[in-house]
Formats: sequence, structure tokens, C-alpha cells
Amino acid sequence: MRYLITGTAGFIGFHLARKLLQEGHEVIGFDGMTPYYSLKLKEARHAALNQFPAFKPSIGMLEERAALDKAIAGDAPDVIVHLAAQAGVRYSLENPKAYLDSNLSGTWNILELSKDVGVKHLMLASTSSVYGANPSIPFRESDKTDEPLTFYAATKKATELMAHSYAHLHKIPTTAFRFFTVYGPWGRPDMALFKFVKAIVDGDEIEIYGEGKMSRDFTYVEDLVDSIIQLSHVVPLPETRVEKSGVIDTLSHEAPYRVVNIGGGQPVGLLDFVETVEKIIGRPARRKMLPMQKGDVPRTYASPDLLVALTGSKPETTLDVGVKAFVDWYMEARAYL
Ligand SMILES: NC(=O)c1ccc[n+]([C@@H]2O[C@H](COP(=O)([O-])OP(=O)(O)OC[C@H]3O[C@@H](n4cnc5c(N)ncnc54)[C@H](O)[C@@H]3O)[C@@H](O)[C@H]2O)c1
Repeated sequence: MRYLITGTAGFIGFHLARKLLQEGHEVIGFDGMTPYYSLKLKEARHAALNQFPAFKPSIGMLEERAALDKAIAGDAPDVIVHLAAQAGVRYSLENPKAYLDSNLSGTWNILELSKDVGVKHLMLASTSSVYGANPSIPFRESDKTDEPLTFYAATKKATELMAHSYAHLHKIPTTAFRFFTVYGPWGRPDMALFKFVKAIVDGDEIEIYGEGKMSRDFTYVEDLVDSIIQLSHVVPLPETRVEKSGVIDTLSHEAPYRVVNIGGGQPVGLLDFVETVEKIIGRPARRKMLPMQKGDVPRTYASPDLLVALTGSKPETTLDVGVKAFVDWYMEARAYL
């Protein structure tokens, strides 16, 4: 199969591309190398992918349709996985325009491209942030998601809605994923695990928001990639509708479109998370307790029921195993980051 993956120099896109290349697929990788965080890290990810002859990298911005056309160079992809985005919850308070450009204009170009090349399956990334402060746990795909607490979440909800309209109008089979705090080797420097490990290793303070009372449903990146690949085979058409008691399928009544949580349904308190990191590094953290930050949600908690009904599995890697894999990678990688 030929995949176009956007965001291959990013954390999740890198892991997905590597797995598909290992499985013998062709991957066109598209990334704008945006300066949101270390370009050295993004370049190192692309360098690792360049070891595979079937990897065809292309540097360009989503907002430029000509750059996307050049990337596929006449070879229409079978599947598009759209992961490139301006990510990060807190940065959307500082620079909302980056989210408007990448997540709205950029995603619109991906929808147009999908229509023009007649892609067999478009998959795109949304986020648990669309649930906002949803009081009902676990978070089900059928819950209300129209009260975003950040502009990031608002642009991701818009991504889902824009994709639904294109799926309906142009019959593009589309799966939108809601990811829950993804972590693992090659992770993002703006996320808690990277920041905590770096601070503990360097002897600096770690900042714990919400006085440690928040919780997150952490998803190990290799589990996430396995779920994406399994879902790529479950094209959202009437024949894949799941009808099991207790599971609400989100397959649209009007369009070949489905939204699916990818999360294990095992939320962890922030203080337990810090303890796990301390235990694995073998050193206590210097903790600085701070109140909740603007736009923070108190908890995330995925219902994996639909994912399990569609694929037969869900993320299972324990935090101990996943954090150790991250720390092992970080200790080697910090020399060049
Ligand atoms: N990591 C998580 O925990 C998490 C959680 C929920 C949702 N997501 C979503 O998953 C996707 C991947 O996230 P990630 O953690 O790998 O992020 P990342 O920032 O590591 O990767 C995104 C990549 O997209 C590229 N990019 C950004 N804007 C672009 C543009 N306009 N044109 C071209 N390239 C552009 C960046 O250079 C980057 O390499 C994103 O859509 C994100 O919103 C991630």
C-alpha cells in the first residue's frame, strides 16, 4: 500500500511511518519542520526514516496545496493519515494563529487533496481535548463535544466537522481518531514526560499543575500506532457498523465517517505519574506545586469500547514499561538533542 502521512518529522507520524515501512509499505512523508520545538529532533526522526528506501520525504507546509501535489508527484496514495498539526494545549493561548493556519487551512487542503486523488481511506488526528471538562466518565465518542476549553480543541473539533462534510459530499471514507496523551521514545519536548525527565536528570524543579490533582489517560505510542494500523483496515462503511450491547458506533448516518477514541481507559493521577518517573530514574523530583493553568482540563479518561469492538484490542502497555522505554531513549538522545 502507498501511504501519505503528514507530520512524519513529528512524534506520532515518525512512529507510524517507521512501523508501516517495517511492514513493507511505501510511505510518502510530508512535514513543514515547523519551529514549535527542536528541529534537531525532527531532523533526527526523518534521518531514521531515510534508512528505508521506501520512504519518500517531502518538506512543505500544509497550507500550500502545490507542496502537497509535489509530494505525491502523480503517485496517488491509497491511504492518507493526516497527523501534521499545530499541537499543544498551552501554546494555543500564546499563538492561536498557528492553529488557524495549520489545523483549519492546512486540513482543508488535505480534504481537497483526498477528494482529488480519490483516496480509499482518509484518517485524521483529533484529540481528547474536544471533551473539554466533560463530567461524564469514561469519555465516549457519543458524548457532547461542543464546549472546547482551548482554541486548540476548537480547531480539532472543526477538523472533525470539516472532514464529516467532505466525507458526505465527496464519499471519502474517513476515520477521525481522538488520541489521549501519547508518550514514548522520540516524544515531544513540550509534553510532561519529556519535561519531567529532563528536569529530574538536570536537577531542576518540575512544575506540577492543578496541585497534582489532575489525571490523564496515557497511551503508549507503539500501542497507538498498532490501533491506527488496525483501524486502517476497518473502512467506515455500513458493513463495518458494530452492533454490540454497550457499544455506541459513531458511524455517521449520512457519510462514510466514524470517530474513534484511541486510549486504554486507565487514567493515572499526576502524582502517581511523577512517582513512576522518579522510581525509573532512581532520583526524587524537586516539586513545585502550581494551580491549574488556563485551559487545562481536570482529567481525561477514554472509553475504549468502540476501539475494542472495531479492532479486538486496545492500548495495554503499562506506565512502568512505557516510561522506562522513554527514559532509556532520552538518556541516549540527549547528547544530540
Ligand atoms: N501527542 C499527543 O499526545 C496527542 C494527543 C492528541 C492529539 N494529538 C494530535 O496528533 C497529531 C500528531 O501529534 P504529535 O504529538 O506527533 O505532534 P508533533 O508536533 O510532534 O508533530 C506534528 C508535525 O506536524 C508538522 N506540522 C505542523 N504544522 C504544519 C504545517 N502547517 N504544515 C506542515 N507540517 C506541519 C510539525 O513540523 C511536526 O513535525 C497532531 O494532529 C496532534 O494534534 C497528539
